[in-house]
Amino acid sequence: MSNSYRIVVLLSGSGTTLQSMIDTELPVKICAVISNKPDIMGLDRARDANIATHVLDHTNYTNREDFDRDLQKIIDQYQADLVVLAGFMRILSDGFVKHYKGKLINIHPSLLPKYKGMHTHQRVMDAGEPLHGSSVHFVNSELDGGPVLLQARLPVLPTDSLESLELRIKTKEHLIYPAAISWLAEGRIKLKRDGIHMDGKKMTGPVVMDYM
Ligand code: GRF
Repeated sequence: MSNSYRIVVLLSGSGTTLQSMIDTELPVKICAVISNKPDIMGLDRARDANIATHVLDHTNYTNREDFDRDLQKIIDQYQADLVVLAGFMRILSDGFVKHYKGKLINIHPSLLPKYKGMHTHQRVMDAGEPLHGSSVHFVNSELDGGPVLLQARLPVLPTDSLESLELRIKTKEHLIYPAAISWLAEGRIKLKRDGIHMDGKKMTGPVVMDYM
């Protein structure tokens, strides 16, 4: 398959999620990686893979809209089919989210709609949840609130520490995010007016991959 489907990845940190995309033979071209922070490992990973990088430092901006407008300009110069958030620690403005409707995805480390926001692993452990996971979702203007297309679900083990739980979740994220991106690139998944469609049929809920 030709890699004519173009993605741009946005990140703010270590970039293990980006690495999983680089290491998986995805039917896509990763055109660029954009970070809002300089000197992060995610940028090194991109450079090592010969992917164009951009740093757009949010501390140089006094308001979100101006930052998002410049971010949009960089993304659009690559004519991206899909914008992939991979640990991008910024809230995006309504205008930005609307501009990429159906073409902007995120991975959030919880079984959405449960545990939106930060520190999900700790909160899941504190609540004594038997199950935890991660969700790939389309981004809308509600934080971690867009339609979910794919989830990895796994048990919280009695022996789990915060670190072991986070590591087990990340390992599965590195499987499901590339899978979701492939489905989008192959045209199998589409966000329509009435929800997500897969293989031409409206989905009644996310695809759930169980790792029990
Ligand atoms: C992932 O765990 C993802 O769920 C969250 O941010 C993390 C990114 O990790 N959105 P990394 O920087 O890719 O290692």
